[in-house]
Order: sequence, then structure tokens, then C-alpha cells
Amino acid sequence: VAAAASAGAAEAEPRAEALLRDAQAALHEANARLAAEQQWLRSIIEDFPVAIAVFDERGGRSLLASRRCEQLCDGPHPLATPRSDRRALLCAPGGRPLLHHEMPLVRAARGQGMTCEELWFRRGDGSHIPVVVSAGPVRDDQGTILGAIASYEDVTHFTERERLREEWLSIVAHDLRQPLTAITACAGMLSRRSEAADIQGWSRKILASVQRIERMAEELLDASKLEARRFSLDRLPMDLRAQLRAAVDLANMERPERAVVLAADEDVPLVDADAARVDQVVGNLLLNAAKYGDPRAPTRVTLSRREAEVEVAIENRGPGIHPDELPKLFQRFQRLTSGPSRRNLPGTGLGLYICKGIIEAHGGRIWARSEPDETTSFHFTLPLSEPPRGG
Ligand SMILES: Nc1ncnc2c1ncn2[C@@H]1O[C@H](COP(=O)(O)OP(=O)(O)OP(=O)(O)O)[C@@H](O)[C@H]1O
Ligand SMILES: [Mg+2]
Repeated sequence: VAAAASAGAAEAEPRAEALLRDAQAALHEANARLAAEQQWLRSIIEDFPVAIAVFDERGGRSLLASRRCEQLCDGPHPLATPRSDRRALLCAPGGRPLLHHEMPLVRAARGQGMTCEELWFRRGDGSHIPVVVSAGPVRDDQGTILGAIASYEDVTHFTERERLREEWLSIVAHDLRQPLTAITACAGMLSRRSEAADIQGWSRKILASVQRIERMAEELLDASKLEARRFSLDRLPMDLRAQLRAAVDLANMERPERAVVLAADEDVPLVDADAARVDQVVGNLLLNAAKYGDPRAPTRVTLSRREAEVEVAIENRGPGIHPDELPKLFQRFQRLTSGPSRRNLPGTGLGLYICKGIIEAHGGRIWARSEPDETTSFHFTLPLSEPPRGG
């Protein structure tokens, strides 16, 4: 029995060895394939034409950043180094460094992706590179988040183009005004030269057209500033009640055929606002009410005090706006194709877009309500200078 057993063992040994060799060869091959796969993935990340960074949260957090990403940061990705050693900072446009929880990869790893947001990489030498960032979580088949991926696209050339466009626009807007001054002066002289009705009518038309060109030039300039985020406010404590009173009086003087009435709460505190810009908002809303509203009914302006803000509403009667169209009106160049403004009324469709930019720059909100063939109202809020005490 012992002899038979030892003969069996002697036979099994080479078989086991062969099996082991096969297993080792298979393992070797699998490892080589895995390494090639990893190399392939790494090359994809490295050679991707947009800078990429990947957070890997499987067993401790590690960060993989592509060469392009490191070039953008002029060193390691900000999240790959301790805060004190960072050569580049990821900042909001304008230069405020992002807090840790605001970083695209950190947000994405919590499941909050982002698409095409503009940020800056501020580098050690003080320069900055504007980037458009998209980020999202990386999940397994069950949906568990294993990490996050972010792409950063250098948009310097777009920003430069934007700057040139703005420069060009401001030159056009400025140079347009010079001949307009001469046209205005000549139209004035013409109307003083003769009382004849046709001369008076032509000179009124010339002046109205000049005003329209001036308004369009101003609007184009403001819209381009808003887009280039070069829109600055000169904020001072402001008495909104007095400001609205003046705007309403002016509207009644300019368009006596379109009555405007004001109802203001007594106890409205000061707001920190750019008076000229708020005037511009109120002016556009009043002009819209006159242009698109029913001329027989007065436009009502109300000023109400709320908890930590004030609300202004400008309401007119008239054909109004379909509810689906309301939010669109605050986008640039949006004018209604049906309803009151399909009548060929002059306008560029920038007024409400600029109003929204101005109000949001103040930290307020703007919205519209409309009940077609009844009333249409535009509302905006401005935060109070000093938040209410207590509570
Ligand atoms: N009170 C209103 N009632 C009805 N429709 C309105 C009213 N206010 C605005 N609208 C609609 O919203 C559109 C956009 O208004 P917005 O002020 O942005 O541009 P606009 O008045 O056409 O031109 P401008 O750039 O000269 O202001 C208008 O063209 C009009 O169709
Ligand atoms: Mg308008």
C-alpha cells in the first residue's frame, strides 16, 4: 500500500507543478493585460485634449491629474497638496479662492456635479487662467460613488475675444454719440426756425430717433458689460421711496397721456443701492408698461416693506403675457412674437435682461406675473441696508 501511495505521489507531483506553471503563466498574462489596460486609461486621461483630474476614493483618497492639468496649475492640482504648499489656487471668477467644499471635485464626490462653470486658476506668479469646469461623480454598477472626475478647459482665448468685443462695442457706442449730438442740435435749430407743422413734426421724429439710437447704444454696452462680468455698482444708502416718487413724476411729465400712480409704505428703511442703476430698472419697467399696457388704465407702482428686503411692483392692465413666456423675457434679445408687442413697437429686447443683471448684482430678485387681458406686473426686491433686529 505504501509503495503504491509513493508511486501515486511521484506521478502527482509533476502534474501539480505543470498546473502551477499554467496558473502562473495565466496570472502573468492577466497582470500584463491589466497593466496595458491601466496604461491605456492613463494615456486617455493624459492625452485628453482638455485637462482632467480624477479623485479615487476606493480605500483612501488619491488624486490623478493629467499633464495638461498640471500645466494649467503650474504644478500639482490644488487638491493634491496641503493648503499651505499650494502654488495654484482654484478661484471664483474675480479671484476669491474657493473653500474646500466648493471645489468641483469635492462637490462632485458628494454627488453634486457641475456643467460648464467658469472658474479661475490663480497661479503663484499672480497670473490667472480662466477655465470652464465640468465635474461629476464616478459610480459603480450599484450607483455607489467611488470618486469624481473634473475637466478644466482653458478659455483664455474666449475671454480675450470677449474683452475685444466689449472694447469694440464701447468704441462704437461712444463714437455713435458724437454725430448724435450734432443731429440733436440741428433738429433743435430747425424746430426753432419755423413754426410750420411739418417742420415741427420732422424735428420731433428726428429727436425721437436720436433717443432710440442712444438707448440702444447704452443697452448694448450694459449687456456686454454684464456678460463680461465687468458691471460695477456704486452703492450708497438710498431712499427708495423718494427715488420712486421722482421716477413716477418724470414718467408723468414725459408721457402725460399714460398716468402712473405711486403707493408706498411709510416705514421703508434705506437700501444700499446704486441709485442710477435702480432708476434705470424702474425707467425700463415704466416704459414697458407704457409701451405694452392699456393706455386707458393707469400704471400702478407700489413699494412694500418685507422682512429683510423691500419689494417694488409695477403693474399695468393690458393684453399681457402668456405664462410660458414669462421667464424667457429676462433673457437677452427676447421679445414676444404674439400679444401686445407683436405690434411693431421699437425695442431691442435687452431691457429686462439688463434689469435682471442690475437687480441680481444688488442681491435682489426680479420676476413677472401676468393674467392675460387683465393685469401684468413686474416685481423686484432689494435687500435692506441693515437687516431687521432680533428674530
Ligand atoms: N408690461 C408688459 N406687458 C406686456 N408685455 C411686456 C411688458 N413688459 C415687457 N413685455 C414684453 O417683454 C419683452 C421684453 O421686454 P424688454 O424690456 O426686455 O425689451 P423691449 O422693451 O422689447 O426693448 P428694450 O430693450 O428697448 O427695453 C417686450 O418686447 C414685450 O414683448
Ligand atoms: Mg423694455
